[in-house]
Amino acid sequence: MTNEMLEKISLPRHIGVIMDGNGRWAKQQGLKRSEGHKAGAKVFRTICDYAAELGIECMTFYAFSTENWKRPADEVSAIMNLFRDYLSEAKEREEENKAKGMRIRYIGDRAALPEDIVNMIDLLESRSADKHSITINLAVNYGGRDELLHAVKEIAKKVEAGELKSDDISLKDIDGNLYTAGLPDPDLIIRPSGEYRLSNFLIWQAAYSEFWFSDILWPDFTTDDLDKAIIDYSNRNRRFGGV
Ligand code: IPE
Ligand code: IPE
Ligand code: MG
Repeated sequence: MTNEMLEKISLPRHIGVIMDGNGRWAKQQGLKRSEGHKAGAKVFRTICDYAAELGIECMTFYAFSTENWKRPADEVSAIMNLFRDYLSEAKEREEENKAKGMRIRYIGDRAALPEDIVNMIDLLESRSADKHSITINLAVNYGGRDELLHAVKEIAKKVEAGELKSDDISLKDIDGNLYTAGLPDPDLIIRPSGEYRLSNFLIWQAAYSEFWFSDILWPDFTTDDLDKAIIDYSNRNRRFGGV
């Protein structure tokens, strides 16, 4: 995007991306599904860097859902290995990422993830938490319903402990107990691959999000496509129920 264009538009603060279509892309190319995920992971890196350049505050990438465990074990382990590769690379590039002002955060239920991955996430999160201009949120073993269930349990614990009255439970209590606590709601949600659904992605936070759908398969997604989505978003009239 040119600087001239960038000045004209209003940038979304938070963009959610459902990185879908890796398997179909691989099939098209006559490759194994895991090769599609590998190609998708490469595109994820490119889009992260580009979003940081544009000055986006927060990007959430949906990489693996709570429902994706249904897939064949070899596919699941290939995806986990790609996640591992990314985390260890991010650790190696700590200084570079810090210079870019990149903060890496995880959202989802970490309890079901392999221990070494959880340790890497903890380390990265604690080290990149200070000064930042972009937050990269990685949604792995993430499900919007699971997230809400987790929030409800946290709130119920406070009620049980007598710290909160049920009548006083507020929207803030719910927001504050989501994995995304402290982040703005997504202004724009991008779903490539020709599917028109959320598939359990940020279901609470998406109440007033703008959606951008496309037939492009994620491994074919380019920085130009991100530009297109942002420009379309910028031309939308968001009313939030008002006039
Ligand atoms: C998205 O691509 C990656 C994950 C859900 C882990 P898919 O693997 O869902 O690709 P398609 O939808 O089968 O093409
Ligand atoms: C959504 O894609 C999850 C991710 C991209 C991580 P799916 O491929 O799992 O979604 P469905 O099954 O088509 O709804
Ligand atoms: Mg899919």
